[in-house]
Amino acid sequence: MAMASVTLKELGLPEALPMPKRRDWRIGMIGFGGIARGAHVPAYRSVGWNVVAIADPDPAAQQAAREKFGIPKVYSDYHDLVADPEVEIIDLLTHPTLREAAVLAAAEAKKPIATEKPLAGTLGEAERIVAIAADAGVPFAVHQNYRWRKCCYLAHHIVQKGLIGTPFLAAIEIIGTQDVHLAKHHFYAVCSDFLTVQWNTHLADLLRFWTGRDAARVLARTGRMSGQNFVSDNLLIVLYDFGPGLTGHVLHTELLRSSGAMGGVRCRLDGDKGSIVFDFDSQLTLDSLVLGGGPRTLDTGAGTFTSSFAGSMGDFLLAIEERREPLVSARRNLATIRTIFAEHRSTREGGVWLPCT
Ligand SMILES: NC(=O)c1ccc[n+]([C@@H]2O[C@H](COP(=O)([O-])OP(=O)(O)OC[C@H]3O[C@@H](n4cnc5c(N)ncnc54)[C@H](O)[C@@H]3O)[C@@H](O)[C@H]2O)c1
Repeated sequence: MAMASVTLKELGLPEALPMPKRRDWRIGMIGFGGIARGAHVPAYRSVGWNVVAIADPDPAAQQAAREKFGIPKVYSDYHDLVADPEVEIIDLLTHPTLREAAVLAAAEAKKPIATEKPLAGTLGEAERIVAIAADAGVPFAVHQNYRWRKCCYLAHHIVQKGLIGTPFLAAIEIIGTQDVHLAKHHFYAVCSDFLTVQWNTHLADLLRFWTGRDAARVLARTGRMSGQNFVSDNLLIVLYDFGPGLTGHVLHTELLRSSGAMGGVRCRLDGDKGSIVFDFDSQLTLDSLVLGGGPRTLDTGAGTFTSSFAGSMGDFLLAIEERREPLVSARRNLATIRTIFAEHRSTREGGVWLPCT
């Protein structure tokens, strides 16, 4: 017998992502690489926002901006983009090789800035750039866009509504194939912190988002497969101690060699009044003692990896309109950064408990 289903409306859950009132915000992108072209521009255009300029020293990126995306202004040097009066919002979409200098430029120009994750390359740099933006009174947020992937967003709201009571376990398992299909990637295949920092920025942040708590300490280990392609270990297991009554774990490998069908994403939150099991975008099952009636699937509606970028930028723009702190302000994101750097250090020390400081 098919499991019963329930709609977002019936549970009083949000059916759409919050959006700013203004649709004519003028955005300038620093860095026009894979994620800018593949996700940010399509997401922003799908909700009607204007990308008025980009800055990237790479001629191929400039050509794509002009010819494929029809971006009106194309700069080599990001200082020219920041100085352009047409640009109201700075979107920093480079690797963390560029963070502090760009935040300084935005702060001097008094322009709000959102950055791709990770917030910075080191904890010291993260703390400095948060202070630079705060001293200048400039709004500063991080694209933790996984929070706006459909099921991740709904999971947060299900916990907030008390439908599973108080969570005692938060878990994410991802079994993927990136060691194969990104084997020649110019950055991810050769970096030394692929799962611990580059990827786990998302997962450590999701655990905070869902539970409303920051990990106090972490224990992390990595593993390799003989003959794997990536320089980084491509298997990660992390235990999170959130303090009394809450434990988390991440099990993540991108080494899958069997057919993709044997992999996937499985998240779960268990509380003292129920559980949810879900993937990132489409499937969510809820079993709530508060509602009764046994497990039911949630009709989650549309959501994709790409649309999640309209979520992170949407909250940033809305926060500016409402003169409030963005949900993922850079200041708030420091807890995620402390967690992932503690994880990374724990793996280097062979898997010991380390405080997230
Ligand atoms: N949120 C997500 O889900 C997600 C997914 C993928 C990547 N990312 C993040 O996005 C960032 C960029 O990743 P990517 O895959 O687009 O990288 P990429 O290498 O494809 O693109 C980076 C771009 O930055 C440009 N650049 C370098 N120095 C610059 C400078 N001084 N001024 C202007 N442009 C400069 C490069 O020429 C390149 O075009 C990384 O921090 C990565 O972690 C996030």
